[in-house]
Amino acid sequence: MPISGILRERISCRSFLPQPVDPQILRKVLEDAQRAPSNKNGQPCHVFIASGETRIQLEAQLVDMAATSLQAVRGNGSDPNMQGDFPGRYVELDGVYKERQYGAARALYGALGVQRADMQGRVDAMLANWRFFGAPHVAFFAMDRRFGLMPAVDVGIYAQTLALLMAERGISSCMQGALGSFSAPVRMAFNVSDQLGILFGMSFGYSDTTAPVNRARTERASLADVVFIRD
Ligand SMILES: Cc1cc2nc3c(=O)[nH]c(=O)nc-3n(C[C@H](O)[C@H](O)[C@H](O)COP(=O)(O)O)c2cc1C
Repeated sequence: MPISGILRERISCRSFLPQPVDPQILRKVLEDAQRAPSNKNGQPCHVFIASGETRIQLEAQLVDMAATSLQAVRGNGSDPNMQGDFPGRYVELDGVYKERQYGAARALYGALGVQRADMQGRVDAMLANWRFFGAPHVAFFAMDRRFGLMPAVDVGIYAQTLALLMAERGISSCMQGALGSFSAPVRMAFNVSDQLGILFGMSFGYSDTTAPVNRARTERASLADVVFIRD
C-alpha cells in the first residue's frame, strides 16, 4: 500500500491480539528504520524492545507505579514521580491545542463508553497505557539526557518511520508519552546506561479490530490552519 493509503488507514491502536510478531519480520523492519534521517546524521535514538517475560514483568511493575501515581494525582492534582527522565517533557496545552486534545479524548472515551464523570473509568483507561494495551511487544525510545529539542525531533522521526514500516506489514502500534513517565523498571530490565533517558514508548503488535476502543477516530486541522504557501 502506498504511504498515503497507510496514513489514511492507520490509527493509534489501543487493543492488540496476543499473537507476537515474527522475530525475522521485526528484525527486517528495524533494519529498514535505520535509514531514518537525523540532524547531522547523529542518530541519537536508542530503542529498547520488551517481549515475552521481560514485557510481562515490566507491565506488572509499571502498572503498580502508575496506579499509585494516578491516586496521588487525584489527591494533589499532580505527582512529581510521573516526570520521568526529562522533567518538563510536557507543557499543559491551551487554546486550539487544548481543543484538539479534548476532541481526541472525546473520540477515545466515546469509543470506550466512558462518561466524563466516570473517574474510575478514566483511570482504568489511563492504566491501560502501562498494560501496553495488551500488545505482545513494547518499544522504549531513549536519547542522551544532555540532549535538547533537535535530537528529540530525530527520535520522533525515527519512531514514526518505524511505525510506518510496521504498518506496511500489517503491524499496528500506539506511540505513548505515558511510557516515559516511569523509567526505573525499564532502566533495570535493559541495564540502560545512566547517560540515557527514556523519552516515550510504543506498544505494537496485531490489532484486535473487533475492540470498540479501536473504533475511535480523530480529526485533523484543515490545511488552511497549518500550512502557509507563498510563491
Ligand atoms: C509522541 C506521542 C505520544 C502519545 N502518547 C500517547 C499516550 O501516552 N497514550 C495514548 O493512548 N495515546 C498517545 N498518543 C496517541 C495520540 O493520542 C494520537 O496519535 C492522536 O490522538 C491522533 O490519533 P490517531 O493516532 O489515532 O490518528 C501519542 C502520540 C504521539 C505522537
